[in-house]
Amino acid sequence: MDHLFLRACRREPVERVPVWFMRQAGRYMPEYRAVRAGASFWQMCRTPELACQVTLQPIERFGFDAAILFSDILVVLPPMGLDVEFGEGGPHLAAPVARAADVGKLRVPDPEEAVPFVMEAVRQIRRGLADRVPLIGFAGAPFTLAAYAVEGGGSKQWERTKSMLFTDPAAFRALLDKLAAMVAAYLEAQVAAGAQAVQLFDSWAGILARTDFREFALAPVTRIIETLRGSRTWADKGGVPIIYFVNGCAPYLGDLAASGADVLGIDWRLDMGEARRRVGQVAVQGNLDPTALFLPKDKIAERVRAILELGGGGTGHVFNLGHGVLPETDPEVLEQLVELVHAEGRADDQPALI
Ligand code: CP3
Repeated sequence: MDHLFLRACRREPVERVPVWFMRQAGRYMPEYRAVRAGASFWQMCRTPELACQVTLQPIERFGFDAAILFSDILVVLPPMGLDVEFGEGGPHLAAPVARAADVGKLRVPDPEEAVPFVMEAVRQIRRGLADRVPLIGFAGAPFTLAAYAVEGGGSKQWERTKSMLFTDPAAFRALLDKLAAMVAAYLEAQVAAGAQAVQLFDSWAGILARTDFREFALAPVTRIIETLRGSRTWADKGGVPIIYFVNGCAPYLGDLAASGADVLGIDWRLDMGEARRRVGQVAVQGNLDPTALFLPKDKIAERVRAILELGGGGTGHVFNLGHGVLPETDPEVLEQLVELVHAEGRADDQPALI
């Protein structure tokens, strides 16, 4: 019998709703902060033993139904030719992409040579997990990576990114093409190394008007998904689920359903019932507001029950937050949350499969 999480992604029968959280390895955990005290964030990403250690921490403590590789969406940028530093204010690029000539200089290296530490981390994590739960690999989606590459860091309005997209769409498209080629090869390499599902994070695609979203966010992701499904690795491994998460997905849900993804990540802004109706025959993942974890226990429970009910209480729903766990979150609250989803997310109308 395959893992609960993988079956739910494929909309196969499950005995209960599986649960994991975006950013489940992170600063809210004292165990993570202890490792982080002795290493920079980039050192942690680039040292397979440390990446493995912090990936396993939340699995040991909370009993999530899936592990996610500890890394960052931005690890592919330096080997492409864009240096990234992590400071107090988050990621920073000293020399962001400004014009077509900058795009022309970007490389698309073989991921095995460019980021070998990621594939080694994947192999070590698989050994450490010993098949208790599956491992999710991930990458940033091209639009979100392009936004960091052009903006040089985080932003509220992403005005440089939008300006380039509007004034020089050909250069912006060329940037997306290179990022899409890199991301497809990178995800294939993670799966070849042992990742059992993959998630594409499009954290900033929600800033786009619907037509721009289709052209500049969804189109490259659709191409990546097609490439992966047609790849040797996908043929060899069989049925590796692809999850696409767009923060602020509501305006685009109908389009997202046609992306080819097996699972769509749903943020907290819309209710799960509406999400399910609008995506049709595609699995959904989500969607508790991460700040709801600051509510009293009984109020959290109410929201969790509503999500489980609207999610259909059966297969095709993976419980998650609508975005990453916030650093201020109390780990004990997460413990209770996992217990609650495990207890209440039973699929009554499904055959009992043990
Ligand atoms: O989910 C997991 O537990 C796996 C690890 C993971 C991290 N980043 C670790 C991380 C994943 C999947 C990511 C993805 C990521 N990285 C995204 C997409 C998801 C999202 O949150 O929207 C984005 C936009 C990034 C880029 C990034 N990395 C930013 C903007 C920051 C700074 C903001 C912050 O939270 O500090 C990071 C740093 C980062 N990535 C940390 C972690 C644990 C904190 C680093 C630290 O310890 O100081």
